Amino acid sequence: MASTKSTTISLRVNDETHSLTVDNRTTLLDALRERLDLTGTKKGCDQGQCGACTVLLDGRRANSCLQLAVAVEGREVTTIEGVADGERLHPVQQAFLDFDGYQCGYCTSGQICSAVAVIEEFAADWPSAVTADVRPEAGPPEVGDEEIRERMSGNLCRCGAYVSIVRAVTEAAEAAKQVTA
Ligand code: FES
Ligand code: FES
Repeated sequence: MASTKSTTISLRVNDETHSLTVDNRTTLLDALRERLDLTGTKKGCDQGQCGACTVLLDGRRANSCLQLAVAVEGREVTTIEGVADGERLHPVQQAFLDFDGYQCGYCTSGQICSAVAVIEEFAADWPSAVTADVRPEAGPPEVGDEEIRERMSGNLCRCGAYVSIVRAVTEAAEAAKQVTA
């Protein structure tokens, strides 16, 4: 009987395709860090509580410690290493630099990946749990502290750099709105 312990998968990460044979229990986080040397994605709690391992899956954020590598075959994974446009930083990365949105930096790649998706959520007019009026006629949710704090609440920062993080995400979200206005 064929072993079901390992599977060879084709993993799309940052626009590149990798063929990997992985133990079926390997998380996406471990495949990224241990097999592909993409160590920008951090392991904090390894159980879905801190957000340090956040990546984008088909453009939506996900905790890579909660995904099995074999389950993301055929999907587009974007890690912090793939967020910039060549040498040009993503506006969220630039905002984190401009507004000192970090201290030790351990949570930063997860914060940035999450914020990139938050901006897309605003662009798509998605409401959050704190959006006061979700009726279509009420218009899109306003970019503001309360909305940003709610949408980024899955990303913990042990250094407590939240004030600067919220400012950086707000600035990047406001700038994105100007571009699409
Ligand atoms: S390492 Fe994945 S949520 Fe903490
Ligand atoms: S900057 Fe240190 S954990 Fe967030």
